[in-house]
Amino acid sequence: MQIESQKTFSEWLSDLPKAELHLHIDGTLQAHRLLSLAKKNDIALPYSTQEQVEAAYQFENLQSFLDLYYLGASVLIDESDFYHLMMDYLLKCKEQNIVHAEIMIEPQTYAPNGVSFVTMMRGFDRAIEQAQQEWGQSVALILSFLRHLDEDQCLETLEQARAFKQSFVAIGLASAERDNPPAKFARLYRAAQSQGYRTTAHAGEEGPANFIWDSLRVLNVERIDHGVRCVDDTALLNHLIKQQVALTVCPLSNTKLCVFDDMSQHNILDLLDRGLLVTVNSDDPAYFGGYLNENFLTLHEHLSMTREQALRLVENSFKASFLNDGDKVRYLEELSQAAKAS
Ligand code: HPA
Ligand code: ZN
Repeated sequence: MQIESQKTFSEWLSDLPKAELHLHIDGTLQAHRLLSLAKKNDIALPYSTQEQVEAAYQFENLQSFLDLYYLGASVLIDESDFYHLMMDYLLKCKEQNIVHAEIMIEPQTYAPNGVSFVTMMRGFDRAIEQAQQEWGQSVALILSFLRHLDEDQCLETLEQARAFKQSFVAIGLASAERDNPPAKFARLYRAAQSQGYRTTAHAGEEGPANFIWDSLRVLNVERIDHGVRCVDDTALLNHLIKQQVALTVCPLSNTKLCVFDDMSQHNILDLLDRGLLVTVNSDDPAYFGGYLNENFLTLHEHLSMTREQALRLVENSFKASFLNDGDKVRYLEELSQAAKAS
Protein backbone atom coordinates (compact mmCIF):
# COMPACT_ATOMS: atom_id res chain seq x y z
CA MET A 1 0.00 0.00 0.00
CA GLN A 2 1.28 3.45 -0.97
CA ILE A 3 0.17 6.30 1.29
CA GLU A 4 -0.36 9.54 -0.61
CA SER A 5 0.05 12.78 1.33
CA GLN A 6 1.20 16.35 0.77
CA LYS A 7 2.69 16.46 4.25
CA THR A 8 6.30 15.80 5.16
CA PHE A 9 6.90 12.52 7.01
CA SER A 10 7.31 14.44 10.24
CA GLU A 11 4.03 16.39 9.87
CA TRP A 12 2.18 13.25 8.79
CA LEU A 13 3.49 11.21 11.73
CA SER A 14 2.84 13.99 14.27
CA ASP A 15 -0.79 14.19 13.21
CA LEU A 16 -1.51 10.48 13.76
CA PRO A 17 -3.02 9.51 17.13
CA LYS A 18 -0.50 7.19 18.77
CA ALA A 19 0.00 4.99 21.84
CA GLU A 20 3.15 4.60 23.89
CA LEU A 21 3.59 1.32 25.80
CA HIS A 22 7.14 1.40 27.13
CA LEU A 23 7.97 4.51 29.13
CA HIS A 24 9.60 4.80 32.56
CA ILE A 25 8.34 7.92 34.29
CA ASP A 26 11.79 8.47 35.85
CA GLY A 27 13.20 8.42 32.34
CA THR A 28 11.25 11.59 31.55
CA LEU A 29 13.05 13.71 34.16
CA GLN A 30 14.51 16.54 32.13
CA ALA A 31 17.80 18.21 33.09
CA HIS A 32 16.16 21.54 34.04
CA ARG A 33 13.60 19.77 36.26
CA LEU A 34 16.34 17.62 37.85
CA LEU A 35 18.33 20.72 38.79
CA SER A 36 15.35 22.69 40.09
CA LEU A 37 14.12 19.78 42.25
CA ALA A 38 17.63 19.11 43.60
CA LYS A 39 17.83 22.76 44.63
CA LYS A 40 14.35 22.79 46.18
CA ASN A 41 14.97 19.58 48.13
CA ASP A 42 18.55 20.48 49.05
CA ILE A 43 20.06 17.40 47.39
CA ALA A 44 23.68 17.57 46.28
CA LEU A 45 24.39 16.53 42.68
CA PRO A 46 27.72 16.40 40.83
CA TYR A 47 26.19 18.80 38.22
CA SER A 48 25.23 22.45 38.48
CA THR A 49 24.17 23.35 34.93
CA GLN A 50 21.85 21.83 32.34
CA GLU A 51 24.82 21.48 29.98
CA GLN A 52 26.75 19.46 32.56
CA VAL A 53 23.80 17.13 33.11
CA GLU A 54 23.26 16.63 29.39
CA ALA A 55 26.97 16.02 28.84
CA ALA A 56 26.59 12.99 31.14
CA TYR A 57 24.12 11.34 28.72
CA GLN A 58 26.83 9.12 27.25
CA PHE A 59 26.35 5.46 28.06
CA GLU A 60 28.36 2.31 27.44
CA ASN A 61 25.67 -0.13 28.45
CA LEU A 62 22.47 -0.45 30.48
CA GLN A 63 24.21 -0.26 33.88
CA SER A 64 26.05 2.97 33.08
CA PHE A 65 22.67 4.51 32.25
CA LEU A 66 20.94 3.08 35.32
CA ASP A 67 23.55 4.69 37.59
CA LEU A 68 22.58 8.16 36.32
CA TYR A 69 18.87 7.29 36.14
CA TYR A 70 18.72 6.32 39.84
CA LEU A 71 20.77 9.36 40.83
CA GLY A 72 18.26 11.52 38.93
CA ALA A 73 15.26 9.91 40.64
CA SER A 74 16.76 10.68 44.06
CA VAL A 75 15.62 14.33 43.75
CA LEU A 76 11.93 13.32 43.85
CA ILE A 77 10.68 13.75 47.41
CA ASP A 78 7.28 15.35 47.85
CA GLU A 79 3.89 15.14 46.20
CA SER A 80 4.40 18.18 43.97
CA ASP A 81 7.66 16.68 42.59
CA PHE A 82 5.75 13.63 41.37
CA TYR A 83 2.97 15.83 40.02
CA HIS A 84 5.45 17.89 37.95
CA LEU A 85 7.31 14.84 36.67
CA MET A 86 4.08 13.26 35.43
CA MET A 87 2.63 16.52 34.10
CA ASP A 88 5.80 17.31 32.09
CA TYR A 89 5.42 13.96 30.30
CA LEU A 90 1.64 14.21 29.83
CA LEU A 91 2.10 17.63 28.21
CA LYS A 92 4.54 15.93 25.80
CA CYS A 93 1.82 13.38 25.06
CA LYS A 94 -0.54 16.21 24.17
CA GLU A 95 2.10 17.87 21.99
CA GLN A 96 2.96 14.62 20.17
CA ASN A 97 -0.61 13.29 19.90
CA ILE A 98 0.09 10.28 22.13
CA VAL A 99 -3.54 9.68 23.01
CA HIS A 100 -2.89 6.62 25.19
CA ALA A 101 0.19 6.13 27.40
CA GLU A 102 1.09 3.06 29.47
CA ILE A 103 3.56 4.37 32.04
CA MET A 104 5.91 2.38 34.26
CA ILE A 105 6.33 3.65 37.78
CA GLU A 106 8.93 2.23 40.15
CA PRO A 107 8.14 2.85 43.84
CA GLN A 108 11.17 0.79 44.93
CA THR A 109 13.38 3.55 43.54
CA TYR A 110 11.92 6.16 45.92
CA ALA A 111 11.43 4.05 49.07
CA PRO A 112 15.08 4.32 50.27
CA ASN A 113 14.63 8.13 50.23
CA GLY A 114 11.69 7.89 52.61
CA VAL A 115 9.02 8.50 49.95
CA SER A 116 5.78 6.67 50.68
CA PHE A 117 3.43 5.06 48.17
CA VAL A 118 0.79 7.62 49.18
CA THR A 119 3.01 10.65 48.43
CA MET A 120 4.03 9.26 45.05
CA MET A 121 0.52 8.25 44.02
CA ARG A 122 -1.10 11.53 45.12
CA GLY A 123 1.26 13.47 42.86
CA PHE A 124 0.94 11.12 39.89
CA ASP A 125 -2.85 10.81 40.21
CA ARG A 126 -3.35 14.58 40.42
CA ALA A 127 -1.48 15.09 37.12
CA ILE A 128 -3.27 12.19 35.41
CA GLU A 129 -6.73 13.37 36.48
CA GLN A 130 -5.96 16.89 35.27
CA ALA A 131 -4.77 15.63 31.87
CA GLN A 132 -7.81 13.37 31.54
CA GLN A 133 -10.15 16.27 32.28
CA GLU A 134 -8.36 18.96 30.29
CA TRP A 135 -7.67 17.09 27.04
CA GLY A 136 -8.99 13.53 27.40
CA GLN A 137 -5.57 11.94 27.94
CA SER A 138 -5.78 8.16 28.39
CA VAL A 139 -3.24 6.68 30.85
CA ALA A 140 -2.65 3.20 32.27
CA LEU A 141 -0.03 2.67 34.97
CA ILE A 142 2.32 -0.31 35.17
CA LEU A 143 3.79 -1.18 38.57
CA SER A 144 7.38 -1.92 37.59
CA PHE A 145 9.73 -3.90 39.86
CA LEU A 146 13.52 -3.58 40.05
CA ARG A 147 15.13 -6.91 39.22
CA HIS A 148 18.44 -6.13 40.97
CA LEU A 149 16.47 -6.39 44.26
CA ASP A 150 15.46 -9.72 45.72
CA GLU A 151 12.09 -11.30 45.19
CA ASP A 152 10.96 -10.98 48.82
CA GLN A 153 11.41 -7.20 48.64
CA CYS A 154 9.33 -7.17 45.47
CA LEU A 155 6.61 -9.23 47.15
CA GLU A 156 6.55 -6.67 50.00
CA THR A 157 6.11 -3.85 47.48
CA LEU A 158 3.30 -5.80 45.82
CA GLU A 159 1.62 -5.98 49.25
CA GLN A 160 2.01 -2.21 49.74
CA ALA A 161 0.41 -1.68 46.34
CA ARG A 162 -2.77 -3.53 47.40
CA ALA A 163 -4.39 -0.31 48.58
CA PHE A 164 -3.71 1.24 45.15
CA LYS A 165 -4.56 -1.80 43.03
CA GLN A 166 -7.24 0.08 41.08
CA SER A 167 -4.57 2.52 39.83
CA PHE A 168 -2.52 -0.18 38.03
CA VAL A 169 -3.31 -2.28 35.01
CA ALA A 170 -0.20 -4.48 35.03
CA ILE A 171 3.15 -5.26 36.59
CA GLY A 172 6.52 -5.06 34.85
CA LEU A 173 10.18 -5.91 35.54
CA ALA A 174 13.02 -3.47 34.81
CA SER A 175 16.62 -2.58 35.77
CA ALA A 176 19.78 -4.69 35.32
CA GLU A 177 18.89 -7.71 33.18
CA ARG A 178 22.23 -9.51 33.29
CA ASP A 179 22.51 -11.83 36.33
CA ASN A 180 18.84 -11.23 37.18
CA PRO A 181 16.95 -13.87 35.16
CA PRO A 182 13.16 -13.96 34.91
CA ALA A 183 12.94 -17.17 36.99
CA LYS A 184 14.05 -15.17 40.05
CA PHE A 185 10.57 -13.56 40.02
CA ALA A 186 8.30 -16.56 39.47
CA ARG A 187 6.49 -16.15 42.82
CA LEU A 188 6.05 -12.40 42.29
CA TYR A 189 4.40 -12.88 38.91
CA ARG A 190 2.18 -15.68 40.20
CA ALA A 191 1.06 -13.52 43.14
CA ALA A 192 0.38 -10.50 40.93
CA GLN A 193 -1.58 -12.55 38.40
CA SER A 194 -3.72 -13.99 41.17
CA GLN A 195 -4.54 -10.39 42.20
CA GLY A 196 -5.69 -9.58 38.65
CA TYR A 197 -2.67 -7.70 37.30
CA ARG A 198 -1.79 -8.05 33.63
CA THR A 199 1.90 -8.62 32.89
CA THR A 200 4.92 -7.48 30.95
CA ALA A 201 8.69 -7.77 31.59
CA HIS A 202 11.92 -6.43 30.10
CA ALA A 203 13.75 -9.28 28.38
CA GLY A 204 16.18 -9.73 25.53
CA GLU A 205 17.53 -6.17 25.69
CA GLU A 206 21.04 -7.01 26.96
CA GLY A 207 20.06 -10.47 28.15
CA PRO A 208 19.87 -13.55 25.92
CA ALA A 209 16.93 -14.89 23.91
CA ASN A 210 16.27 -17.54 26.55
CA PHE A 211 15.29 -14.74 28.98
CA ILE A 212 12.44 -14.02 26.55
CA TRP A 213 11.44 -17.71 26.58
CA ASP A 214 11.56 -17.76 30.40
CA SER A 215 9.53 -14.56 30.69
CA LEU A 216 6.84 -16.23 28.56
CA ARG A 217 7.00 -19.72 30.05
CA VAL A 218 7.95 -19.15 33.69
CA LEU A 219 6.45 -15.71 34.31
CA ASN A 220 3.58 -16.11 31.85
CA VAL A 221 3.92 -12.53 30.61
CA GLU A 222 1.59 -11.17 27.94
CA ARG A 223 4.15 -8.95 26.25
CA ILE A 224 7.90 -8.31 26.24
CA ASP A 225 9.68 -4.99 26.74
CA HIS A 226 12.52 -4.66 24.19
CA GLY A 227 12.90 -8.31 23.10
CA VAL A 228 15.19 -7.43 20.18
CA ARG A 229 17.54 -10.39 20.92
CA CYS A 230 14.75 -12.74 19.77
CA VAL A 231 16.50 -12.86 16.39
CA ASP A 232 19.11 -15.21 17.92
CA ASP A 233 16.56 -18.04 18.23
CA THR A 234 14.50 -19.16 15.22
CA ALA A 235 12.07 -21.25 17.27
CA LEU A 236 11.42 -18.21 19.48
CA LEU A 237 10.88 -15.97 16.47
CA ASN A 238 8.33 -18.40 15.08
CA HIS A 239 6.59 -18.58 18.44
CA LEU A 240 6.38 -14.77 18.73
CA ILE A 241 4.92 -14.56 15.23
CA LYS A 242 2.42 -17.39 15.73
CA GLN A 243 1.22 -16.18 19.14
CA GLN A 244 1.44 -12.49 18.17
CA VAL A 245 3.33 -11.67 21.38
CA ALA A 246 3.96 -7.93 21.38
CA LEU A 247 7.47 -6.48 21.67
CA THR A 248 7.73 -2.88 22.92
CA VAL A 249 10.87 -1.81 21.07
CA CYS A 250 12.76 1.43 21.83
CA PRO A 251 15.09 2.41 18.96
CA LEU A 252 16.83 5.46 20.46
CA SER A 253 17.31 3.62 23.76
CA ASN A 254 18.87 0.66 21.97
CA THR A 255 21.47 2.78 20.20
CA LYS A 256 22.19 5.00 23.24
CA LEU A 257 22.79 1.87 25.37
CA CYS A 258 24.86 0.17 22.62
CA VAL A 259 22.44 -2.73 22.12
CA PHE A 260 22.97 -1.89 18.42
CA ASP A 261 26.09 -0.08 17.20
CA ASP A 262 24.05 2.40 15.19
CA MET A 263 20.50 2.93 13.98
CA SER A 264 21.19 1.47 10.54
CA GLN A 265 21.80 -1.89 12.33
CA HIS A 266 18.46 -1.88 14.17
CA ASN A 267 16.25 -4.90 13.49
CA ILE A 268 12.78 -3.44 14.18
CA LEU A 269 11.67 -3.20 10.54
CA ASP A 270 12.99 -6.67 9.82
CA LEU A 271 10.89 -7.98 12.74
CA LEU A 272 7.86 -6.02 11.51
CA ASP A 273 8.16 -7.40 8.00
CA ARG A 274 8.51 -10.96 9.34
CA GLY A 275 5.10 -10.52 10.99
CA LEU A 276 5.98 -9.83 14.63
CA LEU A 277 3.74 -7.52 16.65
CA VAL A 278 6.42 -4.87 17.21
CA THR A 279 5.77 -1.34 18.48
CA VAL A 280 7.83 1.87 18.77
CA ASN A 281 8.42 3.49 22.17
CA SER A 282 10.77 5.95 23.87
CA ASP A 283 11.78 4.16 27.14
CA ASP A 284 13.62 7.07 28.84
CA PRO A 285 13.19 10.01 26.47
CA ALA A 286 14.89 12.69 28.60
CA TYR A 287 18.11 10.64 28.53
CA PHE A 288 18.04 9.11 25.05
CA GLY A 289 17.53 12.17 22.85
CA GLY A 290 13.90 11.93 21.87
CA TYR A 291 10.26 11.25 22.65
CA LEU A 292 7.97 9.00 20.64
CA ASN A 293 7.88 11.05 17.43
CA GLU A 294 11.68 11.31 17.36
CA ASN A 295 11.90 7.51 17.62
CA PHE A 296 9.76 7.20 14.49
CA LEU A 297 11.73 9.94 12.73
CA THR A 298 15.05 8.20 13.32
CA LEU A 299 13.69 5.00 11.75
CA HIS A 300 12.54 6.98 8.72
CA GLU A 301 15.92 8.67 8.44
CA HIS A 302 18.27 5.72 9.06
CA LEU A 303 16.24 2.71 7.92
CA SER A 304 14.12 4.39 5.23
CA MET A 305 10.97 3.34 7.07
CA THR A 306 7.96 3.96 4.81
CA ARG A 307 4.67 5.56 5.88
CA GLU A 308 2.98 2.19 5.43
CA GLN A 309 5.44 0.58 7.87
CA ALA A 310 5.04 3.48 10.32
CA LEU A 311 1.26 3.15 10.18
CA ARG A 312 1.46 -0.59 10.92
CA LEU A 313 3.71 0.16 13.91
CA VAL A 314 1.23 2.69 15.26
CA GLU A 315 -1.67 0.25 14.74
CA ASN A 316 0.33 -2.41 16.59
CA SER A 317 0.68 -0.13 19.62
CA PHE A 318 -3.08 0.07 20.05
CA LYS A 319 -3.46 -3.68 19.42
CA ALA A 320 -0.71 -4.54 21.93
CA SER A 321 -1.98 -2.16 24.62
CA PHE A 322 -3.72 -3.18 27.83
CA LEU A 323 -6.84 -1.29 26.70
CA ASN A 324 -10.13 -3.19 26.55
CA ASP A 325 -11.35 -4.39 23.15
CA GLY A 326 -13.91 -1.59 22.78
CA ASP A 327 -11.30 1.12 23.32
CA LYS A 328 -8.87 -0.62 20.96
CA VAL A 329 -11.49 -0.62 18.19
CA ARG A 330 -12.29 3.03 18.85
CA TYR A 331 -8.65 4.17 18.72
CA LEU A 332 -7.90 2.04 15.64
CA GLU A 333 -10.88 3.64 13.90
CA GLU A 334 -9.63 7.13 14.87
CA LEU A 335 -6.20 6.20 13.54
CA SER A 336 -7.63 4.93 10.28
CA GLN A 337 -9.67 8.15 9.81
CA ALA A 338 -6.61 10.30 10.59
CA ALA A 339 -4.47 8.34 8.11
CA LYS A 340 -7.13 8.73 5.39
CA ALA A 341 -7.42 12.47 6.03
CA SER A 342 -3.68 13.04 5.86
N1 HPA B 1 16.10 -1.50 30.68
C1 HPA B 1 15.94 -1.91 31.93
N2 HPA B 1 15.55 -1.10 32.89
C2 HPA B 1 15.29 0.17 32.59
C3 HPA B 1 15.45 0.64 31.31
C4 HPA B 1 15.86 -0.23 30.30
O1 HPA B 1 16.03 0.10 29.11
N3 HPA B 1 15.12 1.95 31.36
C5 HPA B 1 14.78 2.25 32.63
N4 HPA B 1 14.89 1.16 33.39
ZN1 ZN C 1 12.55 0.09 29.63
